[in-house]
Amino acid sequence: MGIRRVLIVGTGGREHALAWACLRDAPELELIVAPGNGGTGTIAENVAVDVTDAAAVARLAAERDVDLVVIGPDAAAAAGVADACTARGILVFGPTAAAAHIESSKIFAKQVMDAAGIPTARWVAGDAADRKRLSAFVAELAGRCVVKADGLALGKGVMVCDDVAEAEHALDECLGELRFGDAGRQVVVEELLSGPEVSVFGLSDGRNVRTLVPARDHKRIFDGDRGPNTGGMGSIAPPVDAASDRFINEVTQTVLAPCIDALRARGTPFVGCLYAGLMLTPDGVRVLEFNARFGDPETQVVLPLLDEPFLDVLVACARGEVPAGVAPAKPAAAVGVVAAAAGYPGDVRRGDVITGIEALDDDVYCFHAGTARDTDGTLRTAGGRVLCVTATGADVDAARARAYGNLARVHFDGMQARTDIGRPVTAGARS
Ligand code: AMP
Ligand code: GLY
Repeated sequence: MGIRRVLIVGTGGREHALAWACLRDAPELELIVAPGNGGTGTIAENVAVDVTDAAAVARLAAERDVDLVVIGPDAAAAAGVADACTARGILVFGPTAAAAHIESSKIFAKQVMDAAGIPTARWVAGDAADRKRLSAFVAELAGRCVVKADGLALGKGVMVCDDVAEAEHALDECLGELRFGDAGRQVVVEELLSGPEVSVFGLSDGRNVRTLVPARDHKRIFDGDRGPNTGGMGSIAPPVDAASDRFINEVTQTVLAPCIDALRARGTPFVGCLYAGLMLTPDGVRVLEFNARFGDPETQVVLPLLDEPFLDVLVACARGEVPAGVAPAKPAAAVGVVAAAAGYPGDVRRGDVITGIEALDDDVYCFHAGTARDTDGTLRTAGGRVLCVTATGADVDAARARAYGNLARVHFDGMQARTDIGRPVTAGARS
């Protein structure tokens, strides 16, 4: 059966990039993005829906007779959107709630990694009743550790600590004061690693993995990796230290495939994008985390480099027939620079008018995230990360020059953008 109509669930720059990549190879496709943003509305139909209301998403997919549902955000996967759609007989690219556990519980992820022999930081987990054991491990590490809330904490539940006092304070906040609510009733304490970080996406049908070109995001708000953490202020692909076939094959064989095998063996096969957050330590690759979704803003630089039809890969994963291997990538690099709204990553101002997007070069992409359109078409800021200008080039330097040259044509009041996306990062940037 051909794929005529696709529903992409989510609202960010990632979803705009997913939509764009599907249409690139299948221009006739009817695409719905729910709820979408000011950018997806120009290439697809936006439909308002609560992405964590699994029944509502599945109903929308059934009513609109879609052939495939693609899940963007982890919250939708964790809420059981894939389960609800599958129950209605609709093909889905995205994990069941049970498989998405690899992201929604750090303890579960660590258990899977240990059992499957996937390289990761040494760790101990527990709740308030295990405080003695946790503190003993903190002492063993001389306080150089990372304290992580077990559950989903809006990306804020990870505390990097340099000494015992800091680590004990982090444990107090998490377990005592319940700073992250129920998500932090249990914690993982793990050894502090150092090295550059890399994100690698493996697209899986539950059995095979198709690995995409590696990427690196820049999480801090200010140049030089300073200031508070954000959802990501820009990204590059591939990072020069993670571009070799050898590296991609190693990650596929020692990280992605064993995780997919382990989840299948546990009776919860993972269909979707398995995102490995890696650190390149002096002792080799270590997994910091798994996510059950595409990264944002990494997707915005990975997909423009993909050299095979994206929609076909998504469909093959959903049907259980994706060919294992490394997906072909263009011999080029991509750089994406995020423009964020005034106030980000704190309380953001909304409603500023965005101009200049129509002046971008034809082959430079503006992936929208927090944007919305007035009924007269005026584009306004509507969220923290507003848009991501992505350019490709022969190498990272060339792509960066084009991305910044084009970003300079875009304007909205209060716009914040880093000026150093794609310049070499210092090892072990802190979160
Ligand atoms: P996570 O959500 O587990 O990836 O953690 C978020 C960020 O915390 C990572 O991107 C790293 O920058 C940092 N981090 C996590 N685990 C470690 C670790 N074991 N050592 C050093 N930094 C870490
Ligand atoms: N860019 C980091 C993430 O998507 O989690």
